[in-house]
Amino acid sequence: MKFFVDTADIDAIRELHELGMVDGVTTNPSLIMKSGRDIKEVTKEICELVPGPVSAETVALDAEGMIAEGRELAKIGDNIAIKVPLTWAGLQACKVLTSEGRMVNVTLCFSANQALLAAKAGATFISPFVGRLDDINIDGMDLIAEIRQVYDNYDFSTEILTASIRSANHMKEAALIGADVATAPPNVIKAMANHVLTDKGLDAFMADWAKTGQSII
Ligand code: G3P
Repeated sequence: MKFFVDTADIDAIRELHELGMVDGVTTNPSLIMKSGRDIKEVTKEICELVPGPVSAETVALDAEGMIAEGRELAKIGDNIAIKVPLTWAGLQACKVLTSEGRMVNVTLCFSANQALLAAKAGATFISPFVGRLDDINIDGMDLIAEIRQVYDNYDFSTEILTASIRSANHMKEAALIGADVATAPPNVIKAMANHVLTDKGLDAFMADWAKTGQSII
């Protein structure tokens, strides 16, 4: 499973990238707002740092506007994936932009039917939001499993980009289902390293080591 990092925080991306944990980056209008940076400026920096796909989201609500904004965002770097919402206009924009050879990430997906339409429209990535489904007491991971089955049934090449990930457990579940990509905030990727038994075991080893009176260097 590829790891995308869901942030526009350059320092956080750099830290994970140096460890080989970043296959791509996703941003959205809320994350750009949180960064306090200019969208083109910060997205360009991310594109130069990470060779993988960097999603930048359009904000127009009509297809023509999305297409124009998508073409503008694509000028930022060769690795830009244009993000459009899963509306009828978004699907129209997806079809046009992918026909031009551009990567398109169709976002705000909450049903298998929506994912099916995105694949038919040629989407490079579909972004189902698991955390926001969990928020309304619907198991978001059930949607990932449904989309996996639908895409496998018909050999669609659209990649399932599990989004709105809120916990390390979401990462594990996405990997078990066979999502192609998971995008998560930096703290969630780091939390995957944590285990209470690792901490407990390390404490015991350190205590015993101190009793030996030895040093390695
Ligand atoms: O990739 C989409 C993601 O940023 C949404 O996450 O936590 O705002 O639902 P969240």
